[in-house]
Amino acid sequence: MAGGRFPVRARWADICLLSASLAVGCGACARQPSPISCGPYLQSPGLTQVSVMWTSDLLAEGVVRWGPAGRAPDKEIKVQPAEFNWSKAPEKRDVPLEAPAVGEKGRAYLYEARIGGLAPGSSYRYVVDFAGRRVEGRLMTFPEKPVPFTFIAFSDTHAADVVAAKFARHRPAFLINSGDLVDREDYAEYRQFFSEAVKAATGRIPMFVARGNHDQTGAMLARLFSLPPDRLYYSFDYANAHFVCLDSCLWRWPDGEEKVQAMLEWCERDLQASKADWKIVFFHEPPYDLSYRRTDWGRQDAMPIFRRCGVDLIFCGHAHAYQRFGPLFWPGQNDQHPIMLVISAGGSSKYIAKPGRAEPHLAVRQGQDNYVVCRVEGERLTARALTSKGVEIDAFTIAKRDGRLDPAYLAQAMPEETFGKVERALAEIRVPRVPIEQGEEFAIEVKLEAGSEAIAFDIRPAEATARAVELVAPAAGTVAANGNAVISVQLRAKTAITKPAKGNRTDPAVVLECHYQAGGRNGLVSSTAATIK
Ligand SMILES: [Fe+2]
Ligand SMILES: [Fe+2]
Repeated sequence: MAGGRFPVRARWADICLLSASLAVGCGACARQPSPISCGPYLQSPGLTQVSVMWTSDLLAEGVVRWGPAGRAPDKEIKVQPAEFNWSKAPEKRDVPLEAPAVGEKGRAYLYEARIGGLAPGSSYRYVVDFAGRRVEGRLMTFPEKPVPFTFIAFSDTHAADVVAAKFARHRPAFLINSGDLVDREDYAEYRQFFSEAVKAATGRIPMFVARGNHDQTGAMLARLFSLPPDRLYYSFDYANAHFVCLDSCLWRWPDGEEKVQAMLEWCERDLQASKADWKIVFFHEPPYDLSYRRTDWGRQDAMPIFRRCGVDLIFCGHAHAYQRFGPLFWPGQNDQHPIMLVISAGGSSKYIAKPGRAEPHLAVRQGQDNYVVCRVEGERLTARALTSKGVEIDAFTIAKRDGRLDPAYLAQAMPEETFGKVERALAEIRVPRVPIEQGEEFAIEVKLEAGSEAIAFDIRPAEATARAVELVAPAAGTVAANGNAVISVQLRAKTAITKPAKGNRTDPAVVLECHYQAGGRNGLVSSTAATIK
């Protein structure tokens, strides 16, 4: 990864003036609030180098000393600040910012000590001296040869992390974060993201970040983290594994379609070029999500690339509920190499969504805060999803021999095509009107499209809404391969259905479920709660 770029450098005369006025090394200062806002945190890790970074409202000179672990630091680098201006982002969330943010503004300084000349696979101690404050940390360079290692996946902290305090005990080599570090793209929010627990973790463990929709323009992300100069997607290797970070929010921006296309072309070239034992991809918005959001980012265009390139595992965020899909395969498309999809969202207690109902393709679902610890030992990958209280909510293993996946793992694989088609048909259902009086009949239309296999379907109210509606007539039949049908599900209200004071979902909720059979396999997908037309 390339280092961050900062167009404005602070003037040296200013630094000297301010440094002279600071009581460096003053014991009383240790009891005062830290002059460091974000960090120190590690970035740009590699075989022989790493960056120690921090931000401050103060313009001062920093010194970073380092040396092999167990010895007094014997090398040092003086760090000069790069100035950056920040603006408070608009209150409206979850929208692309077409223009620079307006409102409250400020200036802060970013410090980056680029340490090089280190030995691969080695442990070092470092000390940051800045504005009278001393902070110590440890770092570990990447190994030259494949070695067993652990990494942690988490996401959606929304500036209210609850899991980072647990990371150190697993001794991970690095962290991957699938986005939404904050609620809005404010510097103040990123400062909040760097809570004491996050500082303690990222001061020792480098973190790789993906953009979430709440990271908005990504400009602040690009300032604070070492990302390529012109994009928010990249890849890196660790031991026998290749990691790719994608920017699933790119489509929201001007020229989004072209930019996504360029990213996916890069992604395919990058994945094809890798001969690593493991290929792991992480990004924010998932291709499948059976909780409330039902996103499908990458289902049409990125998933085929992942299949072609032999991706093993995907980590996403955004859904705010832990969900593990698959392993998923597509007949005729590298079908001996199914892909496991893990939505590891839940690094915050702020937003925990209902996890949706148990369905065959969804191996595990949990509505709790969580992070995922992955251990890679040669051709064996084991993963555990843990809550902030240490409760294990999921565990799985992917094993290979000479690059071929274990037959027992292959036996668990689920076909993706029909599941995806049925999920889309039920992702947005509508009632024709409200209020609907008790005893009144109405219909919900479901547009079902079949892929290469015919779908035998049977649609009915989900058990959870059985008190609200009942079927007037069976809604069952078959959609021929490559065909489609508009199914009118005839229902009777068992109670009055109205519009609630807030939102566009009916009260009580109306949820359908589709039991289906395709290619000799049974499946089940629930709809979202119906909206009002
Ligand atoms: Fe989120
Ligand atoms: Fe999100």
